[in-house]
Amino acid sequence: MPEAPAGSWARPRRNRICPSILSADFSRLGDEIAAVARAGADFLHVDVMDGQFVPNLTFGPIPVQAMRRLTSLPLDVHLMVVEPLRFLEDFAKAGADHLIVHLETVEDPARALREIRARGLRAGLAIKPGTPLQRYLPALSACDVALVMTVEPGRGGQPFLDGSPERIAAVREVIDREKLDCLLGVDGGINPETARIAARAGADTFIAGNSIFCAPDPTEALRALRQRVEPA
Ligand code: DX5
Ligand code: ZN
Repeated sequence: MPEAPAGSWARPRRNRICPSILSADFSRLGDEIAAVARAGADFLHVDVMDGQFVPNLTFGPIPVQAMRRLTSLPLDVHLMVVEPLRFLEDFAKAGADHLIVHLETVEDPARALREIRARGLRAGLAIKPGTPLQRYLPALSACDVALVMTVEPGRGGQPFLDGSPERIAAVREVIDREKLDCLLGVDGGINPETARIAARAGADTFIAGNSIFCAPDPTEALRALRQRVEPA
């Protein structure tokens, strides 16, 4: 895995572009993954939905295991499920590299993050757009990835929500003030225009489904996204 050793992965800051497989054409999954890998994707983002935490149902560990065989890109697995701790082991065994749980689904975020790290994986904590940041910000010290949802989780193709830049900036403030080695990801409605807004607010990791996989040329779309978030 071409990743920096623990302790230096997020700092100094480098932008990561992470295509979300949810919007790919699953009848040609291997080709879709290969195309974004060739185009320079940093991680492959995999949205796991349980029909309870969010209305939709998507993948369990078996498709993740298949994706593991298709690529050496780090698999960034976003668990939109209730009681995520029940599934950590299965997704770890399936080959996930990062496991991201939702603040709203865990009573003790520090414990959840510890349980992920104990399996040798990067640990992420996501927050829905409507959840106050109060309980989130103190948990960042145990995170490898802070994931600020910029749409209501549950499906791709929604517009980036207006209040997002303030929330991103509040998270960035804590990461910088406390010198945390933590990526700041944004997920939902990310396209070249909103990625730039999010980058200005402090994001360094950009999850994008529709704007990459539904573009006429995903390779070009990924490059355009990266270009917009790199400093001029
Ligand atoms: C939404 C998912 C996202 C989704 C983003 O619940 O967490 O990762 O795939 O899709 P777009 O980029 O289309 O908003
Ligand atoms: Zn996601």
